[in-house]
Amino acid sequence: MDRCFLSLRRLSQSLNLTRTVTIFRQLIHFGPWRHFFILLVRVVRKPSCTAHPPQGQPSLFSSIKHSTVLADLTDKGIGFAGTAPKELITAIRSRTDHLPKDHFPDIHEADPDIRRLVTDPAVLDLVRHYLCAEPVMLECTLIVTEGGSVSDQIGQQSSFHFDYAGWQSVNVFVYLTDVGEQSAFHTVISGTHRRKTIGDILKQFLSDDEARERFGNQITPVLGPAGTVFFENTEAFHKRQPSPERRVMLNILYASHRNWLSKGRSPPANIHLRDRLYRKLLG
Ligand SMILES: [Fe+2]
Repeated sequence: MDRCFLSLRRLSQSLNLTRTVTIFRQLIHFGPWRHFFILLVRVVRKPSCTAHPPQGQPSLFSSIKHSTVLADLTDKGIGFAGTAPKELITAIRSRTDHLPKDHFPDIHEADPDIRRLVTDPAVLDLVRHYLCAEPVMLECTLIVTEGGSVSDQIGQQSSFHFDYAGWQSVNVFVYLTDVGEQSAFHTVISGTHRRKTIGDILKQFLSDDEARERFGNQITPVLGPAGTVFFENTEAFHKRQPSPERRVMLNILYASHRNWLSKGRSPPANIHLRDRLYRKLLG
């Protein structure tokens, strides 16, 4: 079934329909009726557990400041959760440090330590509280960027843009290399998840000049050591700083529900490459 959706995506791209379909989807997604659908999903997909701290399986993030992260995520669209345990990051990096530049979809299926991270009760509890609905994980992608051609540097990820998945969605990002001022650091424009102009909705992209002029000090670069974990509303304007330096980042996307547009996101060639490399790396 996923292959079918992947083929549909490719057909739409080859027919140059992607832009038209995207604009139509964005108008539907950001229209005033979205509040009704968000409420509806919250009723249908009530959070299964609202206990805090979460009970049962112990969390890797016992010191996470749940209310602070949640408040920042609600207000600014980004909440910092500190750093993941060193042993966990060391274990994950014993594999990811050897991967070539590429995207590795559904990496939790190949890496047992990443699986512990994406199923962590404190992470899920925070996402659940933020969405006010039972979350579903749509993507878990490991992104390795390094050097690259000019087209990589000026690609879509290097311009301010927003994404969306389902009526509500949130990304959990984990740096797996140290990320400094010279690195391909992630940048978010704080507060832009809450309001967008019709021009923003139609364009989906912002130039750096327009971003500086409109949002000034709301532009928030995210720097930090390997293991830095942050939550971000998918709909906030964000970008990746162009840099030739190697950067490895885990991108976990949770939404309040799954729909058919969420399928077909994992190219089979990347899955085969992931499995082949991890078979060797896990010995
Ligand atoms: Fe993006």
